[in-house]
Amino acid sequence: MGARTVRLKDGRLATIRPATEADAASLQENINAIGAEIDFILTEGVGNDVEHEKEWIRQFDGMSSVLFVAVVDGRLVGQADVHPGRPPKESHVGTLGIAIANGYRSVGLGPALMEQCLEWMRDRQFKKASLQVFSTNARAIALYKNLGFEIEGIRPRQYRIRDAWVDDVLMGRWLG
Ligand SMILES: CC(C)(COP(=O)(O)OP(=O)(O)OC[C@H]1O[C@@H](n2cnc3c(N)ncnc32)[C@H](O)[C@@H]1OP(=O)(O)O)[C@@H](O)C(=O)NCCC(=O)NCCS
Repeated sequence: MGARTVRLKDGRLATIRPATEADAASLQENINAIGAEIDFILTEGVGNDVEHEKEWIRQFDGMSSVLFVAVVDGRLVGQADVHPGRPPKESHVGTLGIAIANGYRSVGLGPALMEQCLEWMRDRQFKKASLQVFSTNARAIALYKNLGFEIEGIRPRQYRIRDAWVDDVLMGRWLG
């Protein structure tokens, strides 16, 4: 799957394409910055070992798993990935993750990255898309519902964030 360009709500152009090893440092920077915000994703940072990041990128083979990046004005500002269920009984399920840099949110990049992942999954005969989200992440939950995801379960008080209990919301969308 090659590159695709989308126009964001603020007029900027974003290129969405599969990640390469050359994106390693930018991907680290993106996830470290979003992790440091604390409120949105589980990880709070992935360190600065570029070789380790390259190894992580190589795990995405483009057939059973994929990592997309979004680039605006030459800067990597978003990423989304799909991992397959490893046991055969779960191999029809792809688990999604997405992270967009502050300053590039609420302009339509999330829907574009998610659609790219869903299209990639459909093309590879995945039957179900699955993800987990903090109950406090209203924007993310709104995006997933907009895309047809439904809440399938809740793990109450699974997380402790800024001295508050936060539920783990399990969401899924049937693609078959
Ligand atoms: C969550 C994320 C992927 C959403 O992508 P985005 O491009 O910012 O999303 P959108 O601009 O389409 O906004 C999603 C929807 O939420 C709505 N929304 C925005 N803020 C909201 C809020 N605080 N409460 C409820 N809805 C909200 C928007 O109006 C939009 O709905 P609409 O299109 O019907 O108007 C992105 O903001 C992000 O990566 N955030 C940081 C990391 C993160 O949270 N990752 C997800 C972890 S599960």
